Amino acid sequence: MQLFQINLQFGDITTNPYHLETILRSDLTKALTSLTPDILEEAQLALPEAFDSKGSDSVTLPLFNTMVNIVARVSNRVMIGVPGCRDKRFLHEQVNLATTVIGLSQVLNYFPQFLRPLVFRLSSLVFGGTKTVVPLLTPYVKSRIEYAQQFQDNPQTITDILMRFTPEEDIMIPEKVAVRVAHLNMASIHTTAIFITHALFELALFTPEQLDMLRDEITTAIESEGGVCNKAAVGRFHILDSLLKEIGRWHPLFAIGMSRLTLSDAVIADGSVIPKGTVVAIAPKATHYNPEIYDQPEIFDPFRFSKLRGTGGIDGKHAFTALSNDYLLFGVGKHACPGRFFAALKIKVILAEIILNYDLSCPSGKAERPKSFAFNLFTTPSPTAKLTFTRRK
Ligand code: HEM
Repeated sequence: MQLFQINLQFGDITTNPYHLETILRSDLTKALTSLTPDILEEAQLALPEAFDSKGSDSVTLPLFNTMVNIVARVSNRVMIGVPGCRDKRFLHEQVNLATTVIGLSQVLNYFPQFLRPLVFRLSSLVFGGTKTVVPLLTPYVKSRIEYAQQFQDNPQTITDILMRFTPEEDIMIPEKVAVRVAHLNMASIHTTAIFITHALFELALFTPEQLDMLRDEITTAIESEGGVCNKAAVGRFHILDSLLKEIGRWHPLFAIGMSRLTLSDAVIADGSVIPKGTVVAIAPKATHYNPEIYDQPEIFDPFRFSKLRGTGGIDGKHAFTALSNDYLLFGVGKHACPGRFFAALKIKVILAEIILNYDLSCPSGKAERPKSFAFNLFTTPSPTAKLTFTRRK
């Protein structure tokens, strides 16, 4: 069972995955400080548009879809810049690409290997895919290539950083670079939106005292940076960091994932031999719900990790982005998610904007956590559950 059939759907981008280098070699993580003002500005523009209550006090929205669209715009502000990040048609197709890729990958698993290219080609005619997104994305990528050629030392978007790693033969064909950008976008948008959605459903269950504490912490952090929500301020959002880490413990993205193929016989700790050619994977929930690792793992405690952290800083082993064998949300080892710092920053900036400017409530009037939606190995927040946003005075 393969989660994504990347080469089939994106062409052969895994043989030379130079677009992952931008992140893997940590250039993106280093650039986060300078990208934060753009992330913030786009969130400040996108949120009031998405939460427009058309003259009434509040608005009730299907949360997951709303967040996917907001994240697509905010992410693309730093992926390809303005105006691409506000091109509704491109954003719609980019969002659709992830759904198609993941859905189609599951279906393709049921066909023999030799038939998959044919099934893929036929279904792409109906559902779209990279062939629909790439032509819409290419003009924006082309203008970033032109910018990067002129101002190599002053990258303003992730695509500008990508140009440092792009072979000359691909620079000549911007469509090829656009495929890489579409792939990075795909890794970035739904994952981020899933966390913002879960967090908002949880925040709607917070008591007024807990919310006051959270708002105080965010406001104090921003004030300590002269009133600017920059990367340093975000680094002081301890409660939000703990909430996100608990969400990742409670709802890892997939039941089984991070699969690997053994290239030689492997002997594991208990002496068992895994023969060469075996696909192995890990099951994060078994670890995340293990009572020997987590006290009362069946209880969702948004403050679990801030309590564990005590007075220590946010960067320690209990941080949302910290990797460990006891916490598998981002994987572990060499291939652990290299985009996690970017993801955490976007999630926290968008959430802080919402928390400071809106009150949240469940439309039913009852405080309840909507049931997540599971299909095959994936879990996402409920695609239909709604939340009410009321602008704070
Ligand atoms: C909360 C959000 C996210 C979660 C939970 C997440 C989770 C993961 C996981 C579980 C893996 C697989 C690790 C493995 O196979 O060992 C992964 C890989 C990856 N992620 Fe993320 N991710 C998130 C956001 C992002 C973002 C925003 C980006 C980039 C813009 C990104 C880029 C990547 C890339 C490039 C890989 C492949 C790394 C490799 O193969 O070496 N991710 N992510």
